[in-house]
Amino acid sequence: MATSAGVRIGVLASGSGTNLQAILDADLPVVAVITDRPDVAALDRAAAKGIPTAVVDRSAYLPDRDAFTRAITDALVEHRVDLVAMAGFMTVLTGPIFAAFPGRVINTHPSLLPAFRGAHAVPDALAAGVKVTGCTIHVATLEVDDGPILAQETVPVLPGDDVDALHERIKAVEHRLYPQVLATMVEEMVGAPEQ
Ligand code: GRF
Repeated sequence: MATSAGVRIGVLASGSGTNLQAILDADLPVVAVITDRPDVAALDRAAAKGIPTAVVDRSAYLPDRDAFTRAITDALVEHRVDLVAMAGFMTVLTGPIFAAFPGRVINTHPSLLPAFRGAHAVPDALAAGVKVTGCTIHVATLEVDDGPILAQETVPVLPGDDVDALHERIKAVEHRLYPQVLATMVEEMVGAPEQ
């Protein structure tokens, strides 16, 4: 049986890492931060908090997505992670990670899924002329930006919005919602039979 101190979160990030920062600031039990490329701010953010980091360089595995996924999964297993938080991780992962962490890979996406899946959710929402968009925290599955929805929150599209302005307001919501969802999952995992 896991204790709250025993739940170990691994975060996957690729970029600026502001969602990672929100997760770290929420004092969630993050034990490793893994990126798919070097020289990204996420690595500095983790190091500043004394969290171990690893880089599994996507470019070294191209075009073998399965081999890349296995390397990511191995890194998570090495850190004895039991809950995986994707936080702006920009490489699509394949079967091995979902087999190793069934129902335990979580993602945040900057739209109200199932609307605007994919890497261009914010510009796509603007182009569609929607008046309301938002963010979705969901269980990640083999289908990209699919899987059971855990939480959603709306963000209005304002007159004159551009991609950056709208994305920043969506991110501000993600920064609050994502750590809340992860904290709830950690609580639920405490006392749950280990898988
Ligand atoms: C977030 O909006 C996330 O939903 C999307 O990419 C952005 C990552 O931002 N997939 P950051 O790297 O956490 O700042």
